[in-house]
Amino acid sequence: MSRILIEETPRKTGESVLVKGWVNSRRDHGKIIFIDLRDRTGLLQVVFTPADKETYETATRLRDEWVVEISGKVAERPAGMQNQDLPTGMIELQATSLHILAEAKTPPIPLETDGRDIDEELRLKYRYLDLRRARLQKNLKLRHKIILFLRNYLSEKGFTEVETPILTKGTPEGAREFLVPSRIYPGNFYVLPQSPQQFKQLLMVAGLERYFQIARCFRDEDQRGDRQPEFTQLDLEMSFVTQDDVLALGEELMTQMVRAVSPHKTILDTPWPRLSYKESIQKYGTDKPDLRKNKADPDELAFAWIVDFPMFEKTESGGLRAVHHPFTRPHPEDREKLAADPLSVRALAYDIVLNGFEIASGSIRIHEPDLQNQIFGILGLSQAEIGKRFGHMLEAFEYGAPPHGGMAPGIDRLVMILADEPNISEVIAFPKTGSAKDLMMGAPSEVGERQLKEAHIKPDV
Ligand code: AMO
Repeated sequence: MSRILIEETPRKTGESVLVKGWVNSRRDHGKIIFIDLRDRTGLLQVVFTPADKETYETATRLRDEWVVEISGKVAERPAGMQNQDLPTGMIELQATSLHILAEAKTPPIPLETDGRDIDEELRLKYRYLDLRRARLQKNLKLRHKIILFLRNYLSEKGFTEVETPILTKGTPEGAREFLVPSRIYPGNFYVLPQSPQQFKQLLMVAGLERYFQIARCFRDEDQRGDRQPEFTQLDLEMSFVTQDDVLALGEELMTQMVRAVSPHKTILDTPWPRLSYKESIQKYGTDKPDLRKNKADPDELAFAWIVDFPMFEKTESGGLRAVHHPFTRPHPEDREKLAADPLSVRALAYDIVLNGFEIASGSIRIHEPDLQNQIFGILGLSQAEIGKRFGHMLEAFEYGAPPHGGMAPGIDRLVMILADEPNISEVIAFPKTGSAKDLMMGAPSEVGERQLKEAHIKPDV
């Protein structure tokens, strides 16, 4: 007999079946033993009676989280024993044979609750157990559905998914970078990407026209509920587009996605409101306003665009930094002010905010080497530094770069909101703790002397 899934059992009344999974719970009622068996599709009540002595004796040994295979007959539950809350609540499996595939120690954390009141460190140390809880299984499946939808949608719209390097050179997105020492070139380092920003622009120069990637990004920054040191973006870029084209695509993509994966949620205002950065700050005191009417309603989604961000802001040391990133195009109406009054220049940069979170950022880019060079200069880079850090971009723009722009929604934040979770770590399979540790794997960790030597590293601790 081949295994069937628990979700199939209600259609098998009267038949003999084989099921496999974990013992979710066990209850003894006098001589009868009940277990709830769990597989990836749900729970099933299994009944063992002393009529079949050998099977029954084996069942007396069962404990929570043991892995078993059970065959038996699917039968309707006796009247009064039905459970309307379970899809399999009208039936049970009357066991005729039981094999124990693996025993299990008592889990160090309870798995039958939603897990919210358990210490984070314990949950993450035993993440493979923590992930067994129904809430997290649901979150990972929602994440999968969202990513699948995004891939299919963009693919249908003529986008090509392209992978870009993880071992690369820094790209400025405003955070500290993770470095990887080079064994072959002592004193040289790869940098993990904060985003695929430069690669996606170079793919536009390469003529892809429409690119996307489910892209892992790395940023060594202080953590918060909506920040992890590694996270995932839906990174996308388009050639021959205006800001309105990118906004239209972003709005349609998100709207269709919500309809497909969370149809019980309602989008408050469509088309989404568009606020300039200035308006948003004046009216709400923030560039990520929460525009929900009823903040207690988990199914209300208030999307908005924030547009016309400033190009530059002052740094602590009196210089200028890019508010978005230095590849962002200045607003055409403000171009003449670049040299004399850069702080008053607006950018063709936009964010999507959703229920008070920034869930995406993007911009129309610079595709002309002269303008790009001018922006680097305003940011205080010398010609030597520009050449060293960004020479490849300026050079690429000399070979027929199309006008282009794009954006990058943060997938973790998107899933967090659609899953009604307060923290992105609830929608990432193996997140880091609040202090950037992977407690399950034990990272970061010391490495052996030989590895250090090969990497040409001398720790100063
Ligand atoms: P930006 O830096 O604004 O733009 O990032 C885009 C989106 O990525 C998500 N995000 C994060 N999510 C979790 N943890 C983090 N540490 C984290 N940092 C950012 C947010 C954010 O809106 N290259 C540009 C995009 C572009 O111009 O196309 C970029 O990375 O949801």
